[in-house]
Amino acid sequence: MVARAERPDRLRERYGPWAVVTGASSGIGRATAARLAASGLNLVLAARSGAILDRFAALLAAEHGVEVRTVAVDLASETGAIELERATRELDVGLLVAAAGFGTSGSFLDGSLAAELDMLGVNCRAVVTLCWHFGRRFAARGRGGLVLMSSIVGFQGMPYAAHYAATKAYVQALGEALAVELRPAGVDVVASAPGPTASGFAERAGMRMGQALTPAAVAEGTLAALGRRTTVLPGFLSKLLVYALVPLPRWARVRVMGRVMAGMTRHRRAADAVFHGG
Ligand SMILES: NC(=O)c1ccc[n+]([C@@H]2O[C@H](COP(=O)([O-])OP(=O)(O)OC[C@H]3O[C@@H](n4cnc5c(N)ncnc54)[C@H](OP(=O)(O)O)[C@@H]3O)[C@@H](O)[C@H]2O)c1
Repeated sequence: MVARAERPDRLRERYGPWAVVTGASSGIGRATAARLAASGLNLVLAARSGAILDRFAALLAAEHGVEVRTVAVDLASETGAIELERATRELDVGLLVAAAGFGTSGSFLDGSLAAELDMLGVNCRAVVTLCWHFGRRFAARGRGGLVLMSSIVGFQGMPYAAHYAATKAYVQALGEALAVELRPAGVDVVASAPGPTASGFAERAGMRMGQALTPAAVAEGTLAALGRRTTVLPGFLSKLLVYALVPLPRWARVRVMGRVMAGMTRHRRAADAVFHGG
């Protein structure tokens, strides 16, 4: 049997030897990091939860014999993404997976502006900052990959998750365009747009999901598409939900998505009604 280090692996050869994964403490980022470690890439894991990252790093290093470092960082802060990039400067990084992100839901006017601006920081400012820094590094070495996490909600507006959907439309448009612009420099870009995925996301966003993908399925579909496609709808559920709406005009898709999100946040309105004696 050939040892893993000698076995050819597309991801390690094209995007190694180091990958940076944000959002690696949970869900899709964690599953993507595990998949990359299995391919033999060394990893820098980033999120706010340093202790969780440290335990996960030890596990991956023991299971896969790769080197794993951690950076505990708040990507909502103006300087978080820059701190992370600086912490990786001495490493030969060939892949950035920008999976850190979160959502909000419910009435836009009743929500917290501070939470919306934090979300803008993590979902958009940190992503563009990391793409710029790592994009330049990858272009200079003539090889690399950027993985951006968009969402099926980014293909039209979504009432009751209006700003979250807007951040994902931003990521989707950025990824599509960079895929074309950076290709001549040897940098592959994929925008991954999953449907509902069972992770820490729904609880933080205050949503309830019915059917959901696994983070491992999203990670697998996304990494398989990197270097082959510029947008991927990972898993059957993502494709079904997007293609079902394709025949509708955009305004009608917005209405349908509003109904879907009203359903996913119904439990909160019911709880409010009980609390206020309604
Ligand atoms: N789950 C879904 O249904 C779904 C569908 C489509 C797209 N997505 C997108 O997929 C990405 C990953 O989401 P997920 O489902 O894996 O959610 P998750 O399980 O909640 O993971 C989110 C990750 O982002 C990190 N994060 C959140 N805020 C951060 C901050 N301020 N600074 C640094 N890291 C932060 C979290 O780590 P800490 O809390 O430790 O900081 C965690 O590792 C997100 O961009 C999300 O928008 C998710």
